[in-house]
Amino acid sequence: MRGQEQLNERPKVEVDASHQYGDLVVYKRLKFAVAANEFICICGPSGCGKTTLLDMLAGILRPSEGAVLIDGRPANPKQQSISFVFQEPSTFPWLNVRDNVATGLRIKGIRGSEMVEKVRDIVEMVGLTGFESYYPHQISGGMKQRVAIARAFVTDADLILMDEPFVSLDQPTRERMQNEVLDIWRHRRRTVVFVTHNLEEAIFLGDRILFLSAKPARILAELPIALPRPRDPVSPEFMALRSQCMHWLHAPSGGQMPAQGKLNHTENR
Ligand SMILES: Nc1ncnc2c1ncn2[C@@H]1O[C@H](COP(=O)(O)OP(=O)(O)O)[C@@H](O)[C@H]1O
Ligand SMILES: [Mg+2]
Repeated sequence: MRGQEQLNERPKVEVDASHQYGDLVVYKRLKFAVAANEFICICGPSGCGKTTLLDMLAGILRPSEGAVLIDGRPANPKQQSISFVFQEPSTFPWLNVRDNVATGLRIKGIRGSEMVEKVRDIVEMVGLTGFESYYPHQISGGMKQRVAIARAFVTDADLILMDEPFVSLDQPTRERMQNEVLDIWRHRRRTVVFVTHNLEEAIFLGDRILFLSAKPARILAELPIALPRPRDPVSPEFMALRSQCMHWLHAPSGGQMPAQGKLNHTENR
């Protein structure tokens, strides 16, 4: 987690909400906060409501009850600067890499040399220099996902929501992308909410992990990850955390709390 100065600031994100689709209860009073510049990972089984949560954070979906606040105001994509990276690479097939990346800037009215510079910097950061004129059908899945990430990070969106963005990538590409996202996050100081059902990924990336139970989802545990970066997935500390966490990921709907350990229990009231 970032320094002491963060402690007095209002959280970037405050969630205290319930949601149901018709009769299907996804969340009953889900409550947590995310600090500015924090990299938080949300882990939970398939179908527990991770995408629903991101949709609420993005202001695309209003919670049935309660509130999702960004900088103290209800999440609203028209008023707040929020970017989304989806699970499947989402690029515009009719635009080349450069124009795909520039889309978010154009929407914000950023043009001319400022746009050119921002696009050039971020394209370089995600390792796509030289591919600016390529179209999505001419590049690999991993490169497309890098285009989507570049598009999310190029705007000054200070909240980046990522929904299992690396699921469709092979392991080496996934590892490279994880490092790229950390690099960009570190350089640009954004708040990132990263959804994954992959435990190693969450421990590798996050300042903190929230574990959700199966539906109706509640927070099973909240785990700060104090390991220094870059993290080594085969180090004993990493593996110890991993085995400590397996329990949470595979709990059917709220496993037993361990009697002791580093886990901070966050109870939904
Ligand atoms: N628009 C919707 N209408 C009705 N049910 C939905 C809708 N979106 C998701 N669901 C259901 O809500 C639950 C949570 O879905 P989702 O948030 O996509 O889970 P996750 O991303 O964790 O896999 C699932 O049971 C899913 O079928
Ligand atoms: Mg999902």
